[in-house]
Amino acid sequence: MNKYFATTPIYYVNDVPHIGHTYTTVAADVITRFWKLKGYDARLLTGTDEHGAKIVEAAKAHGESPQQYSDKIAREFRKSWDSLNIDYVRFIRTTDEDHIKTAQEFLQKLYDNGAIDAKPRLYEGLYCVSCEKFWKLEDLKDGLCPDHLKPPIKHSEENYYFNLSKYQAQLIDLISTDKIKVGPQTRKNEILGKLKLGLEDISISRANLDWGIPLPFDPDHTSYVWIEALINYYTYGKPNGSWPANLHLVGKDILWFHSVIWPAMLLAINEELPKAVFAHGFFSINGQKMSKTLGNVIKPADLVEKYGVDGTRCVILAAFPFGEDGDFSFDNLDAIYTSHLANGLGNLVARVAKLCENSGFEANEKVTHFDPEVEKLLSEFKFNEALSWIWRIIQRADQRVNETQPWKLDGVDLKEVLDELVSLILDVAYNLQPFLPETSEKILKQFSGKVAAQSPLFPRINS
Ligand code: MSP
Repeated sequence: MNKYFATTPIYYVNDVPHIGHTYTTVAADVITRFWKLKGYDARLLTGTDEHGAKIVEAAKAHGESPQQYSDKIAREFRKSWDSLNIDYVRFIRTTDEDHIKTAQEFLQKLYDNGAIDAKPRLYEGLYCVSCEKFWKLEDLKDGLCPDHLKPPIKHSEENYYFNLSKYQAQLIDLISTDKIKVGPQTRKNEILGKLKLGLEDISISRANLDWGIPLPFDPDHTSYVWIEALINYYTYGKPNGSWPANLHLVGKDILWFHSVIWPAMLLAINEELPKAVFAHGFFSINGQKMSKTLGNVIKPADLVEKYGVDGTRCVILAAFPFGEDGDFSFDNLDAIYTSHLANGLGNLVARVAKLCENSGFEANEKVTHFDPEVEKLLSEFKFNEALSWIWRIIQRADQRVNETQPWKLDGVDLKEVLDELVSLILDVAYNLQPFLPETSEKILKQFSGKVAAQSPLFPRINS
């Protein structure tokens, strides 16, 4: 059986999930479901990133130990993904036993292969705890981390170094020839541009941070959180026959880690490389950066309460192109819900089901394939375009209802029209399965055998 292994980033447990995490996770689930429906053994891995200074700070602020706090927030993530019908094969936590073991084995291999220097030496840099990464002075904005608008802290300690610079030529070759497919194209160009400027060796250990995985070759140091976090994909993938990953889906802020540092680590232990890394854009909320201070953080539960499970999955992916930056607002999501789901799909299905019920229509067609255009768009991560394409089929069906006025017809004329309409609806429902798993299943069932009217698929919402 063909395999497809996709991953989401593992999310920091400093705080509960928000629409940013939801966006990546739903997209990854849509892709994985798509391949599964195409007959692949498709698996999705998600989970939480629990070590490092950022989590220690958050736990302290809540008067809890890092482990207690991580347990609590990891539960919240899992609950959110379950509530959104995310079909993950495993929810991995970096505090899981098997991960700690795999990370240590991986680090030991790096060390044995000479990819990590034998001895630590002084590392100095500007560190943003919220990003868990070093920034170059010239990349700061007025002295602040451009992502978190906070001053980075001066870091100066004895660290182990990973010889990242050794892989520059190899990485340029792998990425420019699409052996590792980095997308979208603009991001790939950025990565290649940066790679061509040269690579510096990086610090991969911490001397004064207990909340982390001890280096197997020097337990006085813990692993830099990003290094062990990346290994999570391998912790699941390798022993379960899923390695190499087909896709790492990430936000643009963490593309460098996934398309440069991670492949270099794999090259250093002679392991297979992920086939593709795709980065989505960043979004604002009503034109503003989403932040606790501004009080505009949207949580998955807020969305599910308003739009339902399938409604949420659909509206967030329909709002703007996946690879680009965009903006979310409840006005905008409400409008998509109403036009696409309540008035569009829901209304069409209700109208046609009623006509079928009234005339005792029996449906016996079966759709077994995705529309080639939907396949093409999904394989390019163009979720909003795939949805628009499907909505054009809905519009066509609506138009046919208006043109043929089936309520005025009977006998073979009516049957012919209903055949056509039901066939369009089945096509729509089949293609929507990755996006709207429950709704599609309902529709496919409703239009097999004797058709009966049912309660509305998408109740109207109060804006
Ligand atoms: N723990 C790391 C990932 C390690 S993967 C080996 C991490 N976690 S995170 O929780 O901060 O972010 C995870 C994802 O959420 C990233 O892909 C990031 O791009 C995404 N987003 C967080 N805020 C976002 C927006 N405002 N807009 C779009 N995506 C956002 O990074």
